[in-house]
Amino acid sequence: MSQTKPVFVDKWNRPLRDLRISVTDQCNFRCVYCMPAEIFGPNFRFLQEDELLTFDEMVLIAESFAELGVEKIRITGGEPLLRKDLPSFIERLTTIQGIRDIALTTNGVHLVKMAKPLKEAGLQRVNVSLDALDDDVFKKMNGVGVGVQPILKGIAAAKEAGLVVKVNMVVKKGWNDSQIVPMAKHFKKEGIALRFIEFMDVGTSNAWDLSQVVTKKEIYEEIQAFHPLEPVEQAYFGEVASRYRYVGTNTEVGFISSVTESFCQSCTRARISADGTLYTCLFATEGVSLKQLLRQGADKAALKQLVIDTWKKRTDRYSDERTEQTAKMRKKIEMSYIGG
Ligand SMILES: C[S@@+](CC[C@H](N)C(=O)[O-])C[C@H]1O[C@@H](n2cnc3c(N)ncnc32)[C@H](O)[C@@H]1O
Ligand code: SF4
Repeated sequence: MSQTKPVFVDKWNRPLRDLRISVTDQCNFRCVYCMPAEIFGPNFRFLQEDELLTFDEMVLIAESFAELGVEKIRITGGEPLLRKDLPSFIERLTTIQGIRDIALTTNGVHLVKMAKPLKEAGLQRVNVSLDALDDDVFKKMNGVGVGVQPILKGIAAAKEAGLVVKVNMVVKKGWNDSQIVPMAKHFKKEGIALRFIEFMDVGTSNAWDLSQVVTKKEIYEEIQAFHPLEPVEQAYFGEVASRYRYVGTNTEVGFISSVTESFCQSCTRARISADGTLYTCLFATEGVSLKQLLRQGADKAALKQLVIDTWKKRTDRYSDERTEQTAKMRKKIEMSYIGG
């Protein structure tokens, strides 16, 4: 059956193109910039099983978004590989008409065992988060004392399975900035694209402060000093990383600089949190519950109408407008719910 994809835009003329689905709010790490252990401790209340979207609900949501023009889906979390039977869910996503790209973001701990089944299920790309090559630095960053080797093995397993791999590194001043050049050198040698992410004020738990942000400019200059970079043209409207190539190679390095060079004007992403809420901004305070609508018995048409109405009203451009005041005072959804 052929589908007509309605073109609708938000108040700033941005179309809806990408969907990110967080499949769990739980994680086996306690990264300092995301789920600090002091807050996400043994008494922290995670979502109960019946509060999470089921895979059936997620598939229905993904189908609805595909019919509204979405072509790319990223699975995230919490740590998505903690969700049982993830490959079977991915396999179902691959059958949705119009979806041409399915990717996953993971901390990589379970990739050694999961890379092959994920690839066989139809996953194409994986972004692995790794914040240091030095064991001591990495153990402090992830908050649970996991060393670097399991993640490097996970990256190798993903490559071996035929997945396209990128590595994400969040840089927090005084914590892992010593690792910028070692990480760049290592992944240049491996021919794997490394993307540096500026520490962002997502949520309210990570005690964000501008003084802890290492800027894209600072990182770029450190890398450029050991190997010259040249810019790579943007691949599509809405691409968040500014991309460069090490001159004389095919290996790329990217920067996700939401703090110092915001990209709100080209943001085409909708986000579904682990509890089934639709957010139109990573820094949102409020969202719209798709789960509630579905559990009241709504059909796909009603779901699509709610998405269209929400998107058409959308005015968010948080990073464009960020001030120290909004960063510290505004109540924002936690990264572990919404998934980055
Ligand atoms: C929330 S995690 C979820 C997926 C998976 N657990 C992982 O770590 O890759 C998604 C991405 O957000 C990044 N992230 C989390 N908190 C961040 C923050 N405060 N600033 C910038 N990036 C952040 C992580 O490093 C990761 O690359
Ligand atoms: S960044 Fe990913 S791995 Fe780290 S605590 Fe957040 S969800 Fe877990």
